[in-house]
Amino acid sequence: MRVLSVASEAYPIIKTGGLADVVGALPAALAPHGVALTTFLPGYPALAAVTKRAKVVHRYTDLLGAEARILKAKIGDHPLLVLDAPALFARGGGPYGDATGADWPDNWRRFAAFSRAAADLASGAVPGYAFDILHAHDWQAAMAPAYLRYAPGPAKPARTVVTIHNIAFQGRYGYDIFADLALPDIAFALDGVEYYGGVGYLKAGLEAADAITTVSPTYAAEIRRAEFGMGLEGLINDRASRVTGIVNGIDPAVWNPETDASLPARYTTRTLARRRTNKRAIETLFGLDTEDGPLFTVVSRLTGQKGMDVLAGALDELVTLGGRLALLGSGDIELEHAFLAAAERHPGRIGVRIGYDEPVSHLLQGGADAILIPSRFEPCGLTQLYGLAYGCIPVVARTGGLADTVIDANEAAIAAGVATGIQHDGVTPEALSHALRRTLSLYARPDRWAMLQRNAMRADFSWDESGRRYANLYSSLLEPA
Ligand code: ADP
Ligand code: GLC
Repeated sequence: MRVLSVASEAYPIIKTGGLADVVGALPAALAPHGVALTTFLPGYPALAAVTKRAKVVHRYTDLLGAEARILKAKIGDHPLLVLDAPALFARGGGPYGDATGADWPDNWRRFAAFSRAAADLASGAVPGYAFDILHAHDWQAAMAPAYLRYAPGPAKPARTVVTIHNIAFQGRYGYDIFADLALPDIAFALDGVEYYGGVGYLKAGLEAADAITTVSPTYAAEIRRAEFGMGLEGLINDRASRVTGIVNGIDPAVWNPETDASLPARYTTRTLARRRTNKRAIETLFGLDTEDGPLFTVVSRLTGQKGMDVLAGALDELVTLGGRLALLGSGDIELEHAFLAAAERHPGRIGVRIGYDEPVSHLLQGGADAILIPSRFEPCGLTQLYGLAYGCIPVVARTGGLADTVIDANEAAIAAGVATGIQHDGVTPEALSHALRRTLSLYARPDRWAMLQRNAMRADFSWDESGRRYANLYSSLLEPA
């Protein structure tokens, strides 16, 4: 089975969050199930190294107004196609905006063109290429199924899957762009690309897709409610029979404490004491006091989604209770300032690094005792999975993928020997305070804590099962109706 996986990010080439980790892991996750997956990415400057001597497989003189080429390259051992369109993608800053974080004003054109090219690949318009399934990730790729539906190519179009990694980001634009999308007028319909009078990219993809997935079962249920659906709950309810939740896995080649080159000391469930070396390295890097007391970490986008405002308000208490915190993150400027101010108030107890640093994110998982993830909503979440694999106990809000992947250390779960972390209900100062106290009282019982760590590290978050689920979903779409 040939699948085209269409996304705006893929680790290790270009990453701003968990989407990249998942897209980067899918080819190896699906190969054992007979799925040959080709990844399709926009040609950002970060791709220059991998496309240097790449073969040109297609040329456009006018792809929604831009000159473009499709290039053939590799991502690791796996096939990669790249939309090389300098007018759209050859610019500094990040994949979605400039260095200040402001969105590019022509994102609608950039990702419509990208999706149009994906649809061409999946409908026979590019000689030598054919795919059974087009799998589009998030709003940046979601117009591809809409193009297949309204402006198909010469061959039978591929069946389509849209995965929602985060329904909060929808690609919503005014009606004025419609004329430039090169879609027929009938596409501007209630069950088409129309969205509250304008154009909605994710909405259009969800209407056109043969199947919809979310990255955890709980999130699939949550987005049927107004609280989580962000305006798309009606559509999700109408199409509920086509929606499934498939939880993300982790890539063992990247996240494994036994082999992780970013860790000063590597370890297994049998050599947990070696984590202390990593803790010392964190203390040095973050300017924290050296001691064996509880060390919390945060590795996160600093945003409201992640509950970082509530966490910032809980830091004085965290310190009063005897905890320390090493935080790595970037995002909202007010939150960055709030964390930096907390670090100034509590020298030696709170250390903050604003920025993005892949090796430091590994070190934190490999040496801190617990990772705080008080998300208001979390489609899946990967940092709790990395925490579990590294014995860095996740302290999480009971929502989305966090609810699905962490087993709360209540008395029953401890007695049954299955607890892997701490959950709290809701993201309020009281809930967080209670969770911190529960965590510290567990930490004060070294036998219990070590049991939690071992349970967490033994939990299976490999891609085996989820890879099989995607493969089964693809197969089900290819069966004659
Ligand atoms: P989201 O995609 O919503 O940000 P996830 O938990 O799914 O949340 O994925 C976040 C990914 O980004 C993880 O791989 C995490 O380790 C990484 N990450 C987040 N912030 C940073 C940072 N400041 N430095 C390095 N890695 C980070
Ligand atoms: C999104 C979500 C996150 C999820 C990631 C990968 O960024 O916010 O919860 O883990 O996508 O699916």
